[in-house]
Amino acid sequence: MEGRKPLGEALKEFDEFRKGKSDGKVFIYPLNHHTERTGFCPCQVGEGGVLRLILWQARYVIGAVALLLPWSSVKVSLFRALGARIGRNVYISSNVWIDPTLPELLTIEDNVLVGAGARIALHELCIDKYVAGRVIIREGANIGGFSLIAPGVEIGRRGSVAGGAVVARDVPPGATVGGNPARILKPRTREPEPQG
Ligand SMILES: CC(C)(COP(=O)(O)OP(=O)(O)OC[C@H]1O[C@@H](n2cnc3c(N)ncnc32)[C@H](O)[C@@H]1OP(=O)(O)O)[C@@H](O)C(=O)NCCC(=O)NCCS
Repeated sequence: MEGRKPLGEALKEFDEFRKGKSDGKVFIYPLNHHTERTGFCPCQVGEGGVLRLILWQARYVIGAVALLLPWSSVKVSLFRALGARIGRNVYISSNVWIDPTLPELLTIEDNVLVGAGARIALHELCIDKYVAGRVIIREGANIGGFSLIAPGVEIGRRGSVAGGAVVARDVPPGATVGGNPARILKPRTREPEPQG
């Protein structure tokens, strides 16, 4: 495909991105069609071969199984072990789905509630591109039940996501968003407390 880096080079860039060694909230690899092999998804054998595939799949299974457990503290610990940065006093409710493919792209700061059935996507396969994106949920935010947070989205400090919202854009600090696509319902629900 014209203008696209060779897979080996792109995989190296991708590894640096997911390890936090490169800037930017999203990594994009152009595709002709979503069924084209990317080498980035664990469902496909890329340049890293079968061993890489097995390691990815094992990590995926641990994450997926962790999310079935009823205990928030266990889910938090297991996701930390898989590479997610999760702060103190974070509650992950029941039936929450966190993309187990790339847990290292997730940051949840202190005092966050992730409501029941919320879904946090960290990658997506579109018709013309593969996208992986960091999701950052800042201190004191509230993620409403059954909402969907898209890859690359940052929820600002003490931001609030309504139940069932589909959040594809950043949420400003203190704002409440809702709907699909999520729009600002209240610009500032609560005054964010001063930093530090
Ligand atoms: C969005 C939310 C925070 C708003 O609560 P609130 O501050 O009390 O605001 P109100 O109920 O006065 O609603 C404000 C506006 O948002 C709208 N709204 C409320 N909930 C909404 C939702 N889920 N989706 C879209 N719009 C919503 C209301 O219709 C109202 O619109 P209007 O001003 O045009 O009439 C709350 O409804 C919500 O969804 N909280 C998430 C709770 C949750 O899921 N917690 C985790 C449980 S495990």
